[in-house]
Amino acid sequence: MRKTYRGKDIEVSFDVAVCTHIGECLRRSPQVFQLRRRPWIMPDAADADELARVIERCPSGALQYRRLDGGLEEQTPEPPRITPIRNGPLLVRGHIEVRHEDGSVETLPRASLCRCGLSQNKPFCDNSHLRSSFRAPGEVIHIELSPVREQPEWPMATADDPRGDA
Ligand code: SF4
Ligand code: FES
Repeated sequence: MRKTYRGKDIEVSFDVAVCTHIGECLRRSPQVFQLRRRPWIMPDAADADELARVIERCPSGALQYRRLDGGLEEQTPEPPRITPIRNGPLLVRGHIEVRHEDGSVETLPRASLCRCGLSQNKPFCDNSHLRSSFRAPGEVIHIELSPVREQPEWPMATADDPRGDA
């Protein structure tokens, strides 16, 4: 379920179900994204243009934005572009329609799709490939897993209400 965080110039939305917990957001904009703070996303803590560029680096599409100040919305390639990552997922950028089992259709501008077959969250990558011997050719990207990845403060990781007061 997507949750929104409204700021003055930009609205950010986040969907725990597709986040791969790589932590790109936490590293690139620590003033906006803080796991131990509630709300954990504060859009007004950075310049809207700068925040938009950070969100566009989110490989899974978990983070999206909508400009409230008339600024440029995210531009996606048409046709969609698919980049295989060495020993990892397919990164897709473009207009991606995801059809859920309940019949609902969600549109994402970015997605990380599993190609190792081990994800518990197909069609999305959940980083299970990192714990496997999956090998496949592709572009080399340097992924640093966030050191906070496994901590309970991550808003989606709490037991009772995963999105509670996030
Ligand atoms: S996929 Fe990475 S960048 Fe996107 S929300 Fe999750 S941790 Fe942040
Ligand atoms: S490619 Fe990441 S879980 Fe399969």
